[in-house]
Amino acid sequence: MCMIDKHREYSVPPRRSRMLAVASLLVLGVGALGWARADAPDLATQAFAQRLAIGVCGTCHGPHGNSGQPKFPRLAGQNGNYLVAQLKNFRGQTRGDPDAIGYMWGMAAELDDPTIEALAKYYSSQQPLPGRTGDPALAARGREIYEHGIESEGVPACSSCHGADGHGVADFPRLASQRSQYILKQLASFQSNMRNVAVMHGVAQNLRLNEMQAVATYLEGQP
Ligand code: HEC
Ligand code: HEC
Repeated sequence: MCMIDKHREYSVPPRRSRMLAVASLLVLGVGALGWARADAPDLATQAFAQRLAIGVCGTCHGPHGNSGQPKFPRLAGQNGNYLVAQLKNFRGQTRGDPDAIGYMWGMAAELDDPTIEALAKYYSSQQPLPGRTGDPALAARGREIYEHGIESEGVPACSSCHGADGHGVADFPRLASQRSQYILKQLASFQSNMRNVAVMHGVAQNLRLNEMQAVATYLEGQP
């Protein structure tokens, strides 16, 4: 029942377009990967999303969503519902810090709902690679905050929503092995309301910079 044209080209600059074409051929050459299930988005949409993920999104997020660059978030193993919500937030221009505006509004503008669902399915089923382990003392402080919060400052335990292992629960995103620089920046954006989400504003409003750094360092080192 999918209404999109499977043969359309995603609008990218001409150079990228050629790269995408080459990448698509490579993907097609590899063939069906055999993981489609009955409840999956239809195969053509899934194949289109996979080409997009590898050929376009992958230039920043890594072909399988394990971004190698600190600024670009990892998407591998991320909660599918969360990914759908964020792509719709970028498309609807409601997630609005400068990096979201500069990098993701344009990327998401032309994605229709079935493609968003298929992209989320692709990334949530990729295996997340381990992140870097940072300074042990900072990570230990971060673990303390993650598991217990900071009572005197009214900061709740992160684990109560994001799960004891940081793998996310229901619609709460996975944080384990996420790039620490990205986590730090999101916490600052929640605090300043540039990324305007009431629940995370409440969590972050009293966090100091060194506490944000600690929890971000801890999380990147978690499998
Ligand atoms: C030119 C680089 C670039 C490309 C290409 C790109 N992204 Fe992004 N993406 C980013 C940056 C930077 C952010 C972080 C924005 C922020 O800091 O708020 C991001 C954030 C995201 C997020 C939010 C992750 C989270 O944990 O909340 C998702 C989902 C996402 N991108 C998916 C995609 C998809 C799908 C594509 C391809 C259609 C894509 N991106 C292409 C740079 C890129
Ligand atoms: C009451 C539940 C709750 C608690 C407690 C909580 N979070 Fe969150 N967190 C959320 C929700 C919901 C989101 C998704 C926000 C959205 O929809 O954009 C989120 C998103 C995030 C993100 C953005 C993830 C991404 O990929 O962009 C980070 C980073 C984060 N939380 C860190 C923390 C840290 C660190 C703590 C503890 C100090 C914490 N959270 C405590 C509910 C919670």
